[in-house]
Amino acid sequence: MDILSGDTGHEQVVFCQDKPTGLRAIIGIYSTALGPALGGTRFYPYATEEEAVYDLLELSRGMAYKNSLAGLDLGGGKAVIWGDPEQLKTEALLRAYGRFVESLGGRYITACDVGTYVTDMDVVARETRWVTGRSEINGGAGDSSVLTAWGVFHGMRAAAEHVWGTPSLAGRRVGIAGLGKVGKVLTGHLLEDGAAVVASDVSERAVAWMRAHHPQVELVDDTKALIASEMDIFAPCAMGGALNDDTAPVLTARIVAGAANNQLAHPGIDKALADRGVLYVPDYLVNAGGVIQVADEIDGFNFERAKQRATKIYDTTKRLLMEADAEGVPPAVTADRMAERRIADVGRLRTIRVSGVG
Ligand SMILES: NC(=O)c1ccc[n+]([C@@H]2O[C@H](COP(=O)([O-])OP(=O)(O)OC[C@H]3O[C@@H](n4cnc5c(N)ncnc54)[C@H](O)[C@@H]3O)[C@@H](O)[C@H]2O)c1
Repeated sequence: MDILSGDTGHEQVVFCQDKPTGLRAIIGIYSTALGPALGGTRFYPYATEEEAVYDLLELSRGMAYKNSLAGLDLGGGKAVIWGDPEQLKTEALLRAYGRFVESLGGRYITACDVGTYVTDMDVVARETRWVTGRSEINGGAGDSSVLTAWGVFHGMRAAAEHVWGTPSLAGRRVGIAGLGKVGKVLTGHLLEDGAAVVASDVSERAVAWMRAHHPQVELVDDTKALIASEMDIFAPCAMGGALNDDTAPVLTARIVAGAANNQLAHPGIDKALADRGVLYVPDYLVNAGGVIQVADEIDGFNFERAKQRATKIYDTTKRLLMEADAEGVPPAVTADRMAERRIADVGRLRTIRVSGVG
């Protein structure tokens, strides 16, 4: 992908290197039209630099859409650190990375992602103000999966109301693929609402946790078998690409709503699902609770305020599904349009000069 050809539409992509610590990071700012670009840091052993850049460009654009649809005054960005966190992650490397984030003067605000944790953000914060997702003891928002799960639950309720006329999930059968940080919390909300949960995870530890904490959850060995089993709602909560050319045709659920990013292996899956009468609720709409949680940290974290904002995912989902129906397009198309519209309409306001200088 050629960044400067204009194909990607990114404002800025910065390559950062600190040889003594082994730091190789790339920071991508897709848009600052709505505010500073917020998005996490992925620490991952990409096979090639090209793969790292591609992932960065996709993820940073995704954050701009997610933050816009979540109603945040934040643009979209993301960073990747190229390398194996098990071998490379040190205090010095994280602090070197923090200095590069600081050098962008607040145009980019970082947070956790795959391979980085709350404790890492505490270290990054020793070099820059432009960091969220720190530990609660340091004034941070802590583990963002709490409100991610809350938002997914509310997106699911809105979709249920759209399809069945009631938001209650009582008596519905929900399949969850991935019982990690989000999947576990989501299971609790679903059981409390009276749903039956059937789930799978490749990790024996995650399965054992579920067996011990929620013995009523039915556990299936294989994720493909889970997807093909009888269920009303499917919640992908593991890695991306859960719905692909193999799994989409055998899915029994009427609704798909889950936490995983990039759930559809390719854009054509969206249409394949719609043709089978499956309502796919866009991932970046329902999984925005986590970014809402960490964004709240910027003005001093207040959990109740962040929770109220994440609950609004219910209203946004309802509005979006109605608009999609009215337009006769899949919800993913409407989601992109709504996000782009807000970036254009609200972003444009910055052209109204509010002081006589500059
Ligand atoms: N944590 C957040 O705040 C947040 C926010 C937005 C999006 N997400 C996305 O939601 C998903 C889950 O996030 P998480 O924080 O719970 O991650 P996690 O790493 O805690 O959990 C993921 C779980 O999925 C399991 N898994 C991996 N491959 C699987 C497969 N093929 N079938 C079944 N299970 C499999 C893993 O064993 C693990 O238990 C990720 O895609 C993440 O990017 C998370």
